[in-house]
Amino acid sequence: MKTNRRSFIKHSSAALMGSLLWQNEEASAVTLDSLKNNADEDDEAFWKNVRKHFPLANDFAYLNNGTMGPSPYYVIEAVKKGMMDGDQFGNYGGWENLHAKLAAFVGADEKEIALTHNVTDGINIACWGLPLKKGDEVILTTHEHVGNAFPWLNRQRLHGIVIRTFTPAPTAAETLERIAALINKKTRALAIPHIPCTQGQILPAKEICKLGRDKGLFIFIDGAHGPGMLPLNLKEMDCDMYASCCHKWMLGPKGTGFLYVKKIFSKHYKLIL
Ligand SMILES: Cc1ncc(COP(=O)(O)O)c(C=O)c1O
Repeated sequence: MKTNRRSFIKHSSAALMGSLLWQNEEASAVTLDSLKNNADEDDEAFWKNVRKHFPLANDFAYLNNGTMGPSPYYVIEAVKKGMMDGDQFGNYGGWENLHAKLAAFVGADEKEIALTHNVTDGINIACWGLPLKKGDEVILTTHEHVGNAFPWLNRQRLHGIVIRTFTPAPTAAETLERIAALINKKTRALAIPHIPCTQGQILPAKEICKLGRDKGLFIFIDGAHGPGMLPLNLKEMDCDMYASCCHKWMLGPKGTGFLYVKKIFSKHYKLIL
């Protein structure tokens, strides 16, 4: 899929951001129109226009989207409206159509999306849900965020699983070789970031999934930095689970996330059920 920052903002993030929780149609329409109407401006004017949609202080350059993306006004307004609707009129909900929208955004089926509060939520569901026993091996990188390190380390301590690690290599081929070299008869799962938070390298997720699939492993991807940063097609990627959130690169409300769970994953891997 060919994309650039401008078309990405126009066609994906902006469309989704405006339609997240507590949808505010009016606000999202205004914003989308305003971005579309300015699509022919030169780059400087276009980005100045984008900037106006955020309450970030003028003298402030925010570079930490990998932790929490700043939301534009219409997301903030939609969240406020949702909270007021609850407190004033006892209304709640607004997420009924969200599974389908998220699914379309990440190339999945509606039924494969569960709503969570953040990436770590999804990681914990994946990690603690796996029927691993003493001696079973799980492969991680040496570049994990604590969110994808502690759950597995806790299982190591509590259940005696064995964690094996590799350092992502400069090339995809070398990275795959390093993973392949760690796989043995006791390996049960891969739990690998799509984009490690330490250096921002995009790992060859699709090829890693193919390798794991060929070896009958369960494949979990920490997708903290996927959606909103890259076009995604999780079906094509072919992982079993992919945990992510809407509050980083998608610029959505804080405390919103999702876990992709492949419909038929249990048929493929050789964990003892
Ligand atoms: C690679 C990676 N995984 C997991 C997380 C945890 O994300 P969250 O705060 O949404 O749980 C982060 C947060 O920065 C991250 O960079």
